[in-house]
Amino acid sequence: MAIITILGAGAMGSALCTPVCRAGWEVRLWGTWLDGHLLDVCEAGKPHPRTQIPLEKGVKLYRSNELNKALEGADVVVMSVASVGVPKVTELALKGISQAKALWLTSKGFCPDKNGKIQLLPEAIRIIAKQKGVLIPPIVAIAGPVKANECAEGKPTATIFGCKDLEVSRKYAQEARTEVYCIEATDDEIGVEICAPMKNVYAIALGIADGLEEGTGFPHHNLKAATFSRAIKEMSLLGQALGARMETAFGLPGVGDLEVTGLSGRNKVYGVRIGRGESAKNALAEMNRLEQTVEGVPAASLAAKLVEQSAPHLKEKMTLLQAVNEILAGTERSVVRVLSEAVLPQKP
Ligand SMILES: NC(=O)c1ccc[n+]([C@@H]2O[C@H](COP(=O)([O-])OP(=O)(O)OC[C@H]3O[C@@H](n4cnc5c(N)ncnc54)[C@H](O)[C@@H]3O)[C@@H](O)[C@H]2O)c1
Repeated sequence: MAIITILGAGAMGSALCTPVCRAGWEVRLWGTWLDGHLLDVCEAGKPHPRTQIPLEKGVKLYRSNELNKALEGADVVVMSVASVGVPKVTELALKGISQAKALWLTSKGFCPDKNGKIQLLPEAIRIIAKQKGVLIPPIVAIAGPVKANECAEGKPTATIFGCKDLEVSRKYAQEARTEVYCIEATDDEIGVEICAPMKNVYAIALGIADGLEEGTGFPHHNLKAATFSRAIKEMSLLGQALGARMETAFGLPGVGDLEVTGLSGRNKVYGVRIGRGESAKNALAEMNRLEQTVEGVPAASLAAKLVEQSAPHLKEKMTLLQAVNEILAGTERSVVRVLSEAVLPQKP
């Protein structure tokens, strides 16, 4: 039986246990130093606090001081921590990763290097390994419309595995597939990795449009739909500028994931607060107080830097990205005006 070690026992790491267990893998789940309380609950047989679903039977749990044991003999390692933790966890797990046949990546985000250059996560991981003189196996970037709780519960889910080597994505798309966890394979690692964090940024904008209805008593569905279309266009433009295929943004990682992220979740909820009248600053403080990390907030400014550094010709064209950053910075203008100007067609 092939062994898979998932790093990070949060919502997504624990949720991924369900399909891979059911697909016949031996599954190990390692909790970081921040996950002890989550493992306590799981060990007591209670539902995982983040998904409200009990862990799949047979999953072996490892505490943060048992990383080497968790990685011993693993065929596949999965990085499933929040993007901010990816560099550190990569360094800690580098030996085990180098001995595996593949590194899967469900973390979503941009990663600034020491000089402030914005990297996509797979590239950041490859650079860390190179600096340490360690060879690592192919990276499989995982994205698409996957809410952790539904995946954990075994509900029908479509996802996409992106590896530069298409044969590798295809191999694991087959080996991790179940009747309800169905996987597309692509070689467009860049497209997958652009869409994953960008959709968090744009989900804030969709939330704002929903919040406007709560704030004004009148629906803003037209504005929301224009925002959705604009978001997809910008993901596609940025992806192509960095070497991705245009169509990736129109598939599961872009349209699919933006749809599901815009329906619920922390980025959307944060946007709703702003749309109904809270200042961006107060709304974020409240989200933090509730221990609700809004990944789209850091991603918005990092995405703007990425555009400036790697695709400066797009700066003026990424109007929705600019608008989200203006709103997050606490614009003096009305939110509906900022959003409208960004997404409604300009005079020809
Ligand atoms: N929740 C979902 O539906 C979902 C779906 C697909 C992908 N993802 C992505 O998976 C990643 C994890 O998300 P989640 O929903 O499991 O979040 P979570 O908050 O439930 O868990 C976060 C995980 O990251 C670790 N972590 C957090 N800060 C860290 C730090 N500074 N250093 C080291 N480790 C740290 C935690 O210990 C935990 O294991 C994110 O990048 C997220 O975008 C989430």
